Amino acid sequence: MSENKKNLRESDLTKITNGEVKKERRRENQKFLDSYARYFDNQIKKLSDIGIALSSEKNLDKLLEMILNEAMSFTSADAGTLYTKEGEALVFKIMVNNTFKTRSGGTSGTPITLPPVNLVRENVSAYSAITGETVNIPDVYTAKEFDFTGPRKYDAATGYKSTSMLVVPMKNQDNEIIGVLQLLNATDTLTETVIPFPDDKVSLTESLASQAAVAITNAQLIQGMENLFNSFVKVMATAIDERSPYTGGHIRRVAELGELMCDVINKSNAGKFKNITFTPEERKEILIAGWMHDVGKITTPVHIMDKSTKLETISDKVELVKARFMLIETVLRAEWLEKKVELLQNGNSGEEIQKGEENLGATLEELRDDLEFIVKSNTGGEFMSDDKVERIRNIGTKTFTHNGETSNYLSESEIENLSIRKGTLLESERKLMQDHVSVTLKMLNQIPFTKHLRNVPLFAGSHHECVDGSGYPLGLKGDDLPLGGRILNLVDFYEALSASDRPYKKKMPIEKVISILQAEADHGKIDSDLLALFLKERVWETYEKMEAEKKKNAAAEAGESESSETGSVDEVESDTAEKAKLA
Ligand SMILES: [Fe+2]
Ligand SMILES: [Fe+2]
Repeated sequence: MSENKKNLRESDLTKITNGEVKKERRRENQKFLDSYARYFDNQIKKLSDIGIALSSEKNLDKLLEMILNEAMSFTSADAGTLYTKEGEALVFKIMVNNTFKTRSGGTSGTPITLPPVNLVRENVSAYSAITGETVNIPDVYTAKEFDFTGPRKYDAATGYKSTSMLVVPMKNQDNEIIGVLQLLNATDTLTETVIPFPDDKVSLTESLASQAAVAITNAQLIQGMENLFNSFVKVMATAIDERSPYTGGHIRRVAELGELMCDVINKSNAGKFKNITFTPEERKEILIAGWMHDVGKITTPVHIMDKSTKLETISDKVELVKARFMLIETVLRAEWLEKKVELLQNGNSGEEIQKGEENLGATLEELRDDLEFIVKSNTGGEFMSDDKVERIRNIGTKTFTHNGETSNYLSESEIENLSIRKGTLLESERKLMQDHVSVTLKMLNQIPFTKHLRNVPLFAGSHHECVDGSGYPLGLKGDDLPLGGRILNLVDFYEALSASDRPYKKKMPIEKVISILQAEADHGKIDSDLLALFLKERVWETYEKMEAEKKKNAAAEAGESESSETGSVDEVESDTAEKAKLA
């Protein structure tokens, strides 16, 4: 009985114990499952965070770098390479090796000199790019499926020991393989030993790679669109500049000078601009506004844009006036000869003929003097006072008769043009020139600029506005005139004054340019703080150096000898500033 009892107790005990063990096991299993679920939760959260970070990075180099960094950190890989598929090859984009603390490609500043990898199946990365399969190799030294002479050579040369390798294709939303991630030497974080890439990390890395591929494709699309937009803007600007051989390069120089002013402001650590820093996007906005500032000139007639003398239309009509004056001289001579014959036939004295000869001489001298005055008045540099305008009218209303037809020395239109007081433009022509900025504004307001470029119409459209509100087309004043517009206003005026290729002036010495700019700033026409910074930092010198460097490189590329621009620094014509204001 006691034996039975004992057996009973033992069997009960066993049952109880078994139950407890099972419970304990269940508890442990549950604990394990909980921690595994937490681990996965964490991994998925991390993956989702990475996805968000990836989708917000638009710079392709930075994005590629971020992808490789995250993939390496995710898998505790010691080294990694990211390739993009370009044509029939894989191009090395970023290479990282933590053991050697080396980083090349991307934004590292160290270029990768390795040649692209041809798409052949023997190469593991190429295989992955061809097939779209992930390849997980525990040890590259024992693997037989692929040709690993490359990693082995690398190991022999550097002392590195390549072991485990994970190669994951990057497939975008269209299922296209756009690149490959190659990770090397997964590391056990506790023991710090190299281990094969665990299966759970493989699937998560595949998820990361597809997110990365989508982000890369988006970034490439955005970059492609941006490149297209930039090229289009430059083509348009060049077409406008090239309409006139004299203004070629004005728009480009204004854009580059505007960009340079942003850099100068960013570096300025004193004065009004010390707290102003243009972000790369804001700097870009000013650059694009510079490229587009004169887009409205597409509607300005070329003969007005280029009008270098008062009588110039399609051609300079002063040549017509000169020919007419030659004709007048011939007519006067013929008239006198006729008269002289008549006097001789009538037996008049030599004295009378002598007097007639003298009269003709005086008339011809006056005629030549008048022509000289007209030619001089025709240039924009001649300020026309009331008496000069009066003299033009007096000359113009004189008459001569040829073939029985009596004509004025000058037509009404010639008198009107020659009487232009300042510069070479009639008021109607000046208005037409000024209209280019209204057209710029009108055209740019129709373009749906992205958020970062939303101020382009305002900046470009305000390049002829003045700080004192006297500019056009909107008459913006004070704070209503944005800094971007002020910058373009200054550099546009500077460029027009200093360029050596304008028809209405010869190259102006920099001292004269500065004195005109200063006078304009003193009169509230341009921003005096900006001008002070421009002068203090001698921005024109920096820009000239940049231009010279560019020319030198272009000449070297074309295999030409360097040519130096030899603009004349002759006398400065008085209307230069007037005309430059319309640039
Ligand atoms: Fe301009
Ligand atoms: Fe302009």
